[in-house]
Amino acid sequence: MSTADTLSTALADLEALETSGKAAFGQAQTGDAVEAARIEFLGLKQGRVKSAQERLKSLESGAKREYGQRFNAVKQALEVAWNDAKTRVERPASVAAGIDVTLPGQKPRLGHRHPLTQTADELIDLFGRFGFAVARGPEVEDVRHNFEALNIPLSHPARDPLDNFYLPGGTMLRSQTSTVQIRVMENQPPPVRVIAIGRVYRPDTVDATHSFMFHQIEGLMVDKGVTMADLKTVLRLFAESYLGKDVQIRFRPSFFPFTEPSVEVDMLWHGGDRWVEMGGAGMVDPNVFRAVGYDPEEVTGFAFGLGIERLCMRRHGIDDIRLLYQNDSRFLSQF
Ligand code: PHE
Repeated sequence: MSTADTLSTALADLEALETSGKAAFGQAQTGDAVEAARIEFLGLKQGRVKSAQERLKSLESGAKREYGQRFNAVKQALEVAWNDAKTRVERPASVAAGIDVTLPGQKPRLGHRHPLTQTADELIDLFGRFGFAVARGPEVEDVRHNFEALNIPLSHPARDPLDNFYLPGGTMLRSQTSTVQIRVMENQPPPVRVIAIGRVYRPDTVDATHSFMFHQIEGLMVDKGVTMADLKTVLRLFAESYLGKDVQIRFRPSFFPFTEPSVEVDMLWHGGDRWVEMGGAGMVDPNVFRAVGYDPEEVTGFAFGLGIERLCMRRHGIDDIRLLYQNDSRFLSQF
């Protein structure tokens, strides 16, 4: 017989060995059956793989190399089949039934609150701890609450139609949450300690830090003997609590018709290279007290109005206000 014949027969036998071994492991349904197949094929003394290995000796030296390589592959394949069979029969019945309780579950996709809502909720919580209750007012306001009672006369440039969204019948989309100060004081005697959070509207050109609609938090505290020192303390405490101990804020003298004296409050922006206005504040003007029937000789108070978007942006390192309105879930899912 030629060498080629012997080699090809031996290779064909290897092929058959692989096929029947895989079938035996594949069909085994119990640990005992798997073990029986292991002994038959991979048994160290009389296993069929062992015999196939011994056949190597009987081959011509030129054929040994090819047979050896093929033998190694078959042996490896059967070891894998053995392992697979072991894992399969060891699995619990639930798995055999198609339920693999060890797989990670499918998480239901849950939404979450918008970063601005989260900010608003945190502010309510924070000022709540400073003793401030929550007040509300309408977004469609009358001119009295948006301007007149706030000591902003008809001649004042803030009332310019180009700077406001006027509606029919002496109403408008409120341009500031200071309207709520008036509503609260009209409805309750002093002392007052409230915040109001909500949307305000101004015909501003949209850019990275401006929008025609944004949110403000208004604060109002009225009592006997409230001073500017109280105002500065509350705003500093607030900034440190919400933005972190290392935040820097500064007060600049300013003017609002409804506060005297007035300040603008800036915060050092993330990155630390520029100051950004956080909002306005001041001591409630006596004319405002008179407009709501409070006695300016009896009580004093402070008020502030801060931009919620900018607080949220500073807190999270966001640089473009428009991201907060685009509802891109890739952006929103980060909060
Ligand atoms: N209402 C002012 C604004 O919109 C902010 C402010 C509120 C200033 C309260 C002083 C007191 O800019």
